[in-house]
Amino acid sequence: MEAAVLEDGAGYVQESINPRLDLFSEIERLKDERNAVLLAHYYQEPEIQDIADYIGDSLGLSREAADTDADMIVFAGVHFMAESAKIMNPAKKVILPDLNAGCSLADTCPADEFEEWLQQYPDHEVVTYVNSSAAVKALSDVTCTSSSAAHIINQIPDDQPIVFAPDRNLGKYLKRETGRDDMVLWDGVCIVHETFNEQKLVRKQARHPEAEIIAHPECEEVVLDRAAFIGSTSQLRRHVGESESDSFIVATEEGLLHQMRKDNPDKELIPAPPDSGCNCNQCPHMRLNTIEKLYLCLKHEKPEVTLEPGIREQALQPIERMMEMSQSIG
Ligand code: 13P
Ligand code: SF4
Repeated sequence: MEAAVLEDGAGYVQESINPRLDLFSEIERLKDERNAVLLAHYYQEPEIQDIADYIGDSLGLSREAADTDADMIVFAGVHFMAESAKIMNPAKKVILPDLNAGCSLADTCPADEFEEWLQQYPDHEVVTYVNSSAAVKALSDVTCTSSSAAHIINQIPDDQPIVFAPDRNLGKYLKRETGRDDMVLWDGVCIVHETFNEQKLVRKQARHPEAEIIAHPECEEVVLDRAAFIGSTSQLRRHVGESESDSFIVATEEGLLHQMRKDNPDKELIPAPPDSGCNCNQCPHMRLNTIEKLYLCLKHEKPEVTLEPGIREQALQPIERMMEMSQSIG
């Protein structure tokens, strides 16, 4: 990701904040004053989730960004999400608490390398996961999210070859789900979802035999093979509420467990164990955003997400196609 930086060298406004200031009421006041909407992803820290106007998965957030009548969009998420909001709303100001909040998966697919690689597949339909830069989206026929990918691929004629980028784990899962064995995959991966370890997962389930394993499709195949349910963040959240099970081992970024616990105070929610005893099940990019940076970003109306000239129009088409093709998804 090419993250622009602010004058002071950081991706966020640096200013000391009076510790007595109630940041939550200040954020509410500034949102009203600027007619701003605060959209947050589930992987944000709980404090940010709790003051968001809307919280959702990538598809839900894109829909909210497309439909909002606010003058300003404050995106508590990562750069590609805020960038998509800007592509859909060129006249609105889109701000992100920390412009360096990128995505390891999007970074595995630089636009120049992707363009060269695509030359091998001139007759293929290019389906691109939204976890990608605007420049990569601009090279694509249709974008998708984890909740809409299979639905979109199933609408492409069987005899039409497909390339899917950039996530190889999601790609492999989609091959199985859609039966499109010949789908060509870019070899990208998310550092957070790669961290879930099958052996530790099995040991964890041995200690909680009643627990249902649920997983995000960015996890490796060996982890997905152990899961009773696979879905996007919103789909995992909904499943916990609807399932008759009272206990779950959740293989995704642990921020999602905050909403699951709020929705289901009587259910047991256990984070799937990452590879080592670290916090690697927290996305280091998402977690760059903090409540302090959120406040300063609203106060100063920056850092602002901008687009390279000419990219917006090309990146908009595959996003609009995704929106059309995913209309029937609830
Ligand atoms: P969702 O669309 O499922 O929220 O996923 C976004 C993401 O970045 C997962 O790592
Ligand atoms: Fe990107 Fe992975 Fe973080 Fe999602 S969890 S934003 S795919 S690095």
